[in-house]
Amino acid sequence: MPEAFLQALRRDAEAVEAYLADTLPAGNTIAGAMQYAVLNGGKRLRAFLVLESAALHGVAREVAIPAAAAIECLHAYSLVHDDLPCMDDDDLRRGKPTVHVKWDEATAVLVGDALQTQAFAYLAATPVLVGPLALAAGVDGMVGGQALDIAAETADAPLTLAEITALQAKKTGALIRWAAEAGALLADADPAPMRAYAEALGLAFQIQDDVLDVEGDAETTGKRVGKDAEAGKATFVSLLGLDGAKARAAELVTIATEALAPFGEKAENLRQAAQYTITRAT
Ligand code: IPE
Ligand code: IPE
Ligand code: MG
Ligand code: MG
Ligand code: MG
Repeated sequence: MPEAFLQALRRDAEAVEAYLADTLPAGNTIAGAMQYAVLNGGKRLRAFLVLESAALHGVAREVAIPAAAAIECLHAYSLVHDDLPCMDDDDLRRGKPTVHVKWDEATAVLVGDALQTQAFAYLAATPVLVGPLALAAGVDGMVGGQALDIAAETADAPLTLAEITALQAKKTGALIRWAAEAGALLADADPAPMRAYAEALGLAFQIQDDVLDVEGDAETTGKRVGKDAEAGKATFVSLLGLDGAKARAAELVTIATEALAPFGEKAENLRQAAQYTITRAT
């Protein structure tokens, strides 16, 4: 990836991590475990999308930083719960023991709950973002997608391409879309181009996640691999095979990139981010 993009990704990650470190609750077990779950690495792609989308729409960085922190808390909550024994039963996340392994299941449930409300606390100063995040995170968004993902493990017939697309659009796509649209919403601008970008990007991102579950290793990805096939997950890889899934992801990156045409040169970081979603090894 071009150095300018990697630098921007690093700069944005550092900014949101510094803000989170300053503002996350502290002082008891749950707060400590929340910090562990949020500040334990992670690519900060969703934070990056918020900050770049804000910059693209002329929104001040200090207004966007709490929104970037919010989505990283919401995302971290989704991961803590995703890793629970009743969901994907994973013991490794971002190269470290998952929260329920390091503490216990009750702690992991409560950490997820508290990270979710913390996310909305971060949005108190930008009410325009609250409703859309609630929808993106909820039963018609991430939670709904997670439910479909779990249900597919025991479905009688494999999901169709349309069903997998719909599942992934909710499971992973909804939060990514919120992040990419945040700048437009804050600027009261038309969110349509960012939405088109994010819909393609989110799908490509989850396809690469599924590819890495097959081709990656735990050392690099920081999480166990080979789990999707083992659990009978419905993914683009299970339906189209590795090559088919990669080809679809590449098409989606082209679509995402083209959606940024109205912004011209200013959207170069976001264009690179689309490429990054399918070339990343972690
Ligand atoms: C992993 O997300 C879970 C999915 C939604 C596919 P990321 O790959 O963005 O995880 P981190 O935040 O970098 O650890
Ligand atoms: C998780 O998808 C998506 C959410 C947490 C909403 P996965 O189950 O594929 O994510 P990983 O592979 O465990 O990171
Ligand atoms: Mg899962
Ligand atoms: Mg999982
Ligand atoms: Mg996965």
